[in-house]
Amino acid sequence: EFKDDIELVKSNINSYPDFPKSGILFRDIFSIFNNPKAAKVLDSVLLRYVKKIVPQTDVVVALESRGFLFGPTLALEMGVPFVPVRKKGKLPGIVYQKSYALEYGTDILEIQASSIQRGQKVLIVDDLIATGGTLEASCQLVRQCGGEVLQCLVVMELQDLKGKEKVSAQVESFIKF
Ligand code: PRP
Ligand code: ADE
Ligand code: MG
Repeated sequence: EFKDDIELVKSNINSYPDFPKSGILFRDIFSIFNNPKAAKVLDSVLLRYVKKIVPQTDVVVALESRGFLFGPTLALEMGVPFVPVRKKGKLPGIVYQKSYALEYGTDILEIQASSIQRGQKVLIVDDLIATGGTLEASCQLVRQCGGEVLQCLVVMELQDLKGKEKVSAQVESFIKF
């Protein structure tokens, strides 16, 4: 039944050639929310998965902005704190930052220094892995706070880009393109 669920979700993700740059095939996670049934199925797939790792997980970290579609909900359902990683200049207080490259550009990510306690085990959540630059920068930020990256969880994986090879943690994905 898991496989049918994945196929339903996949068939509800719209793709846009040459966005935001020529040569990029953009996979639009927001299109899943146009179909409440598909969105519900995706939520249940994610929930079934995270329930298995609840005992090992202390904190859920998700990445601005599309990771915020999933991270807070999963954290609530798991009963653990949610911590945001944001693009530069958005988080108050003392922050750590990391510059990185993604499939179509470069940017800087930040995390609040006191958001994770030393030794806490962290699940990192995002919508998609392309080159893996975003997830790897986030792993480094979590570790800089003293956290341990348990694993990363994404809805979609762009397999040709081999992003998993760049990430220094296990990456689980549900939909492969
Ligand atoms: C997109 C996507 C992932 C990242 C993946 O985010 O949501 O976070 O790119 O690319 P990578 O694996 O090559 O690093 P984007 O920075 O475009 O911003 P958004 O989530 O705020 O829309
Ligand atoms: N982030 C990086 N590459 C992407 C793609 N091809 N589609 C959607 N988001 C992305
Ligand atoms: Mg993103």
